[in-house]
Order: sequence, then C-alpha cells, then structure tokens
Amino acid sequence: MSTPSVIVLPGDGIGPEVTAAAVRVLETLGIAVDERLFGGAAIDAMGDPLPAGTLEACRVSDAVLLGAVGGPKWDGGDVRPEAGLMGLRKALDVFANLRPAVQGDVDLLIVRELVGGLYFGARGVRDDGTVFDTLEYHPAQIERVARRAFELARTRRGEVCSVDKANVLDTSRLWRRVVTEVAADYPDVELRHALVDSTAMELVTNPQQFDVVLTENTFGDILSDVAAAVTGGLGVAASASLGDDGPGIFEPVHGSAPDIAGRGIANPIGQIWSGAMMLDHFGESAAASAVERAIAEVLADGGTRTPDLGGNAGTKDLGAAITAAIR
Ligand code: NAD
Ligand code: IPM
Ligand code: MN
Repeated sequence: MSTPSVIVLPGDGIGPEVTAAAVRVLETLGIAVDERLFGGAAIDAMGDPLPAGTLEACRVSDAVLLGAVGGPKWDGGDVRPEAGLMGLRKALDVFANLRPAVQGDVDLLIVRELVGGLYFGARGVRDDGTVFDTLEYHPAQIERVARRAFELARTRRGEVCSVDKANVLDTSRLWRRVVTEVAADYPDVELRHALVDSTAMELVTNPQQFDVVLTENTFGDILSDVAAAVTGGLGVAASASLGDDGPGIFEPVHGSAPDIAGRGIANPIGQIWSGAMMLDHFGESAAASAVERAIAEVLADGGTRTPDLGGNAGTKDLGAAITAAIR
C-alpha cells in the first residue's frame, strides 16, 4: 500500500512510554506517525478526553495506535479519560476487539464485542438514590461480531466457544440464539456454548482447549485479562479493535499502570505487538511477521526483560532490543 497514515494517541501513565517504543519500531519499517492529545492528557489541556481535532484526525486516518488512558488524577472528575476511549470506539464503530493470547501450546483469540452491552446501555440515578447501568443487545449487534468470529475461526483451528451467562441473563439467551443461527452459515466451524464463570476457571486451568472465544463486552474485558495472565502477563497482551471498514484501533490490553508510570520500566511488548497487528491489518504480513519474530527472538534470548518478565531492563532497552532484532 502507499504509506499509511497512522495516528498515535499516547494517552496517560505508561501510555506515552510504551507508544514511544512502538513508534520507533514502526519508523524502522518506514511508517511515519502523527500524535494527538487523548485521555487525561487531553482533559488537562482542553477539558475534553476526546477533542474534536483528535477524533477528526482518527476518522481520516488508516489506523489509530493507542496507548492507555486513565489514572488516579482524574478519578474524581466530572469527565473521565475512559469516556474518551468509549467515545472513540463508538465513533469508529470498532465492534470487534481481537485479543490473542499465545504462549507455549496456548494459542487462543478472544473476540470481544466492543461497542454494546453494559458499557453503552442506558444509565442513570433514580430519585431514591439507586444508580443503574443497563445491559442491552440488539440481534444485529450480536450477529456482526459473531460473523467476524466465525470468519476468523476459519483461518485458525475452526472452533468457536461462545461465552455468556445464559443461565441467568435474557441478553445472554438472545446471544446464544443469534450465535447459533449464524453458525448455520459456517458448517465447517465447530461451535460450543459455555458459561462465563466456568470459562474463567477453564482459562486458568486448561487454556490450550480454546481456539476462538466469542463474547460480549464486559465478559470479554474480564476474560482477556485472565487470558493475558496465563500467557505471559498483561505487559505482552495486544489487541486490534476493528469495524467493517474505516480505521481500526490498535491498543494493548493493559491500562495506564499508574503504579509503575514514569519509572521507565513498563513492558512495551503489548504495544509493539499491537503495532504488528496493525501492519497485518494493512496487509503488510511480512513486516508484521518480522516484528513478531523480533519479539520472540528477544524473549527467547532471555537477556532483555522488563521487571514484569523477571528482568531489570527498562522500556527503552527492551524496545531498542526488539527494534535491533527486526530484519
Ligand atoms: P492496568 O492494566 O493499568 O495495570 C494492572 C497491573 O498490571 C498493574 O500492576 C500494572 O503495573 C501492570 N501492568 C500493566 N501494563 C503493564 C506493562 N506494560 N508493563 C508492566 N506492567 C504492566 O490496570 P489498572 O491498574 O486496573 O488500571 C489503571 C488505569 O488504566 C485505570 O484508570 C483504567 O481505567 C485504565 N485502563 C485503560 C485501558 C486503556 O486505555 N485501553 C485499559 C485498561 C485500564
Ligand atoms: C480495556 C480497558 C477498557 C475497557 C477501559 C479502560 C474502559 O479495560 O480496553 O480492556 O474496559 O474496555
Ligand atoms: Mn480491560
């Protein structure tokens, strides 16, 4: 393709530290980027976590590489950094959040619905002081993410495990029905349904069994941290948030890690791997593989590791080692 236009949203906490490392990797591969304010940093500068200029730049880009937002500084405020993230995902309609978890004989892919459910349902406060968030799904919202999961399963082991709470929730019973209907169009893919609580347990005790795990927004948020924890930790977990067309958002699974922010010790692999997912999405599979190989090589070598991986290297050291290993 012609040189893609990539917007980088560093955000808050370790976001700027890990995006800097990923930008160096992309620049090595000839991809230039443009940075914009986002999250708490944008609240501080402009009073808005998703300023209009940032959103417009993202809309007209080929892809968004996003660090992380949030932190204690903004926790009590009227507007939260996380609202910017919700707004961006909704505006770009990136309904399918792909979160791979790979290590040893584990190779699973969580497909998380990203623009519906509890995160976007009606919410409010009743006169008696009750606060409510509502969980809603329209069948069409389920169908489109389910189709994406089945398509992806076809490129893998051909298995989809759809995760819900159908023993309790009406939205989950709808989820199960729609996913089952979609499955009829993919006879070559094996579908099974499972409940979210026991799936959390299975992810810890027997993660090898899973190929594609399809689930709704909130369950996917929680299960993807669990899957990350059993495949190297949050520091290495990457994701791609994709719509039908238009720019995707490539973001690590982790957050702004306020407990280690500013110390230069954050693991940049989740962010760099998210960059590799972006290259792959561009159709630049050779460049994506080169980055993934470089990550694997540096990890296998055992020399350069950040503290979360048991080493004492910094973000810049690990980023530089990966950049140097790209060929
Ligand atoms: P977190 O993911 O930021 O951190 C959880 C734990 O993992 C912390 O101990 C942290 O130090 C560690 N960790 C995370 N990423 C790491 C990395 N790259 N290298 C080494 N260690 C790493 O989750 P949290 O502490 O629950 O949330 C902190 C803030 O981040 C909150 O404001 C939350 O809303 C926000 N958040 C943002 C995103 C996002 O922007 N996509 C995602 C998750 C959480
Ligand atoms: C994630 C994060 C976000 C989410 C937060 C920061 C809103 O935890 O991307 O996993 O819950 O989607
Ligand atoms: Mn999360």
